[in-house]
Amino acid sequence: MWCPVAGLRTPLTIVAVGVLLAGPAFAAPSPEKGAAISAQCAACHGSNGISVDTSIPNLAGQHYPYLLEQMNAFKQRTRKVPIMNELAAPLSEQQVEDLAAYFSSIPFRAGTTAKTK
Ligand code: HEC
Repeated sequence: MWCPVAGLRTPLTIVAVGVLLAGPAFAAPSPEKGAAISAQCAACHGSNGISVDTSIPNLAGQHYPYLLEQMNAFKQRTRKVPIMNELAAPLSEQQVEDLAAYFSSIPFRAGTTAKTK
């Protein structure tokens, strides 16, 4: 006789094993991983989040929620900046969180843009 509980057990076990093997679906935002991804950002925002030109915003020490919001706005193109829209599009939610964790972890220093006009 088919038992609904036994019938469910196998699929649930497969899902549970799958989750264990794949690791947690949501990892905590990692500044270290964000630092590695930020190589893509360094040409403009600097390797330490201090931008290379006064036309580009510094990201060092910016608030984590603000960075997250802007990156998501670039992804969704509600904030339209072609270069940022293109760079943000392929980033996963996790990568955006890692980048925000990295830039927000850098101590804030005002007025340190290398090139001034
Ligand atoms: C080719 C240059 C360039 C690269 C590379 C680049 N950005 Fe940007 N980014 C800009 C410019 C220019 C702006 C300002 C856009 C504007 O005028 O609104 C900006 C804006 C931002 C902002 C909004 C800052 C604010 O104060 O509102 C964030 C966050 C950001 N970039 C993150 C990143 C991240 C993360 C990367 C790497 C994945 C990256 N950018 C790569 C040029 C760049």
